[in-house]
Amino acid sequence: MNKKKLSVTLIVLGFIVFQFTFNTQAQDIANNQTINNSNTQNNLSALNKHVFNPLPYAYDALEPYIDKQTMEIHYSKHHKAYYDNFMNAIKGTEMETMDITEIFKNISKYPVAVRNNSGGYYNHTFFWEGMKPKSDIMPNSKLTEAITKTFSSFEEFKKQFSEAGKTRFGSGWAWLSIDNEGNMFIYSTPNQDNPLMDISEKKGIPLLALDVWEHAYYLKYQNKRADYIEAFWNVVNWAEVSKRYENALKSLDSR
Ligand SMILES: [Fe+2]
Repeated sequence: MNKKKLSVTLIVLGFIVFQFTFNTQAQDIANNQTINNSNTQNNLSALNKHVFNPLPYAYDALEPYIDKQTMEIHYSKHHKAYYDNFMNAIKGTEMETMDITEIFKNISKYPVAVRNNSGGYYNHTFFWEGMKPKSDIMPNSKLTEAITKTFSSFEEFKKQFSEAGKTRFGSGWAWLSIDNEGNMFIYSTPNQDNPLMDISEKKGIPLLALDVWEHAYYLKYQNKRADYIEAFWNVVNWAEVSKRYENALKSLDSR
């Protein structure tokens, strides 16, 4: 092989290797995106299998709005205790193989330990998935339109949701949900109740949750619940909330 032919051969080989590497990396990226996109869905689906999901980010990921120590204690102690107590409460019963949403539909028929701990288990996972490190991402256009149509403006929605959290007496949660007709509403539940439970006065499919138990904020914000609620808006995972809205509408359409 003369020098010219050797050079051409090397260039062609180099191009083939580049193409192979590029395609492999592109496929890896595509696969990772698919995994990331489906993670939340899998995590929420895992609730029906009574799985204790890992926190979807590091303990310090939501700093400075939610501090590392609070996050670590909240997840590894409080949430884990609800989960363990829930598993103990349903041991040897029909509930072991039931979807948690089915348990909620009949929660009034079960012991109070099931009500408190199934709620504590579900609500916290829902809460974790609804947050992410600070980003400027806003709700998608469909969700924004529904929010502004319902509450007159996005700021008014935030005001009413924050108020629901601030005025919850004692411990509980603030929720944005849609009812069976697809209408959006803000509601607050006591203790570990949620709008999926049959005992809830206002029932619906939750889209966004905020934990206003003191254990969620006391280390950093002491008694200033309002400051904690204001900080929460910096870490809402609007992409996830938008997806929940789309899924909720689909589930209503398929009835
Ligand atoms: Fe909590």
